Amino acid sequence: MGSRTKFCLTLFLVSVLILCAGLALAKTDPELKQCKHQCKVQRQYDEEQKEQCAKGCEKYYKEKKGREQEEDEEEEWGSGRGRGDEFSTHEPGEKRLSQCMKQCERQDGGQQKQLCRFRCQEKDKKERREHSYRRDEEEEEEGDEEQEQEDENPYVFEDEHFTTRVRTEQGKVVVLPKFTKRSKLLRGLEKYRLAFLVANPQAFVVPNHMDADSIFFVSWGRGTITKIRENKRESMNVKQGDIIRIRAGTPFYIVNTDENEKLYIVKLLQPVNLPGHYEVFHGPGGENPESFYRAFSWEVLEAALKTPRDKLEKLFEKQDEGAIVKASKEQIRAMSRRGEGPSIWPFTGKSTGTFNLFKKDPSQSNNYGQLFESEFKDYPPLQELDIMVSYVNITKGGMSGPFYNSRATKIAIVVSGEGRLEIACPHLSSSKNSGQENSGPSYKKLSSRIRTDSVFVVPAGHPFVTVASGNQNLEILCFEVNAEGNIRYTLAGKKNIIEVMEKEAKELAFKTKEEEVDKVFGKQDEEFFFQGPKWRQHQQGRADE
Ligand code: CU
Repeated sequence: MGSRTKFCLTLFLVSVLILCAGLALAKTDPELKQCKHQCKVQRQYDEEQKEQCAKGCEKYYKEKKGREQEEDEEEEWGSGRGRGDEFSTHEPGEKRLSQCMKQCERQDGGQQKQLCRFRCQEKDKKERREHSYRRDEEEEEEGDEEQEQEDENPYVFEDEHFTTRVRTEQGKVVVLPKFTKRSKLLRGLEKYRLAFLVANPQAFVVPNHMDADSIFFVSWGRGTITKIRENKRESMNVKQGDIIRIRAGTPFYIVNTDENEKLYIVKLLQPVNLPGHYEVFHGPGGENPESFYRAFSWEVLEAALKTPRDKLEKLFEKQDEGAIVKASKEQIRAMSRRGEGPSIWPFTGKSTGTFNLFKKDPSQSNNYGQLFESEFKDYPPLQELDIMVSYVNITKGGMSGPFYNSRATKIAIVVSGEGRLEIACPHLSSSKNSGQENSGPSYKKLSSRIRTDSVFVVPAGHPFVTVASGNQNLEILCFEVNAEGNIRYTLAGKKNIIEVMEKEAKELAFKTKEEEVDKVFGKQDEEFFFQGPKWRQHQQGRADE
């Protein structure tokens, strides 16, 4: 009996100690207080999310405290990890969440920090879920209704539509084939290409240039991008939310400066030689990536570089690790410091030549979502390319739209979460082909499930909605091409186009009394983001009880 009692007492003491430590932490750490406060004031969170958010804060700071002690004892944690899982989107081990949260501390502004932390938690949850019961759950969540139309939808792209251009131990580049390869309806995007770069922690993307103008968007992680402009070098420290233009032909290289997080960059490319076709050129290199210097005859190189052939051969045969290689900590430190002047690594100073989308206040924001939008004046290179960049964060269970873009075609990339997309498309309507002259256009509902890394296109003038699933926020990055003079016309909620019309126009168009029209189009009092269908059903269900 004695040993058992002792054991219980020990257990009790330990738990009290842990509890006290927790309380002390909560009282003394102003950062934790701030974190929790941020959770409370997030308008787009429901109670459950707020609570979850606060828990996340505690977990993070507890781990952080533990880690600080650990670090005192042994430096260099985090080395020797990550082999063998280069291409999974998550890092091994339970430190993943806290590392992710740590990165959020570098975001500017409370709202951004919070958004980032929330995303870390969602990411963590998702990964845990995926580990236990993979895909079947997604399938059953809302795979029911719209399955039959998915395959006929030329506007949505999934993993299998991408091709891999680069794959090394340290990262990869995947490219979406020409839009027109999928469907003639995408001819408007003929001159654009979309690519994703994923670079492992401390990876270096070797110098190259492309025969394409491009816009980069950092969707996750941080790094340094160095451009050579004529004979000057310009290094920019970049982080999540940054937009960077790289002109065609500009030599550039990228380093992932983070020791733990991958760097994700989404690239919209506009080739300058052949419409919709671009090439990558490597000068510094060897066998792999193959250096274009090697294409010249030896006597030409000997003359140009004033170096004998055997020395040239030696230099141009070494590199065989591919276009994304591993850099050492010292190399990274040196590269990320340069060009930044006085800013001290690893604190990212003010970037030049980039624009951070999340620095702006959202142009639309309510409980159901937020919309961040770049304007030409924010970053003039966008005007030159006639592109807008925007980012929507739809609260879980919420929806955006319906609306349409007047001139711009949207290329959207799901950065995080899952949900559903519906587009009204006259081109694919079946009655279009039946040859009836007087019946006017008919619209096909194109409906698709979307999830992280899905890409979808919404042509100009096409009304559409996006709905976030009930278990995760849906975050979408959008490039709008043909952006000059584009207007977003909303079809529901405040400021919808029908509300503005005069009585007679409404009555003639709907063939009914104005008040009947207003009863419908005046009822939704939110703007742009609304409760989604399931959220509403849920609430109505509760009201009925
Ligand atoms: Cu269409």
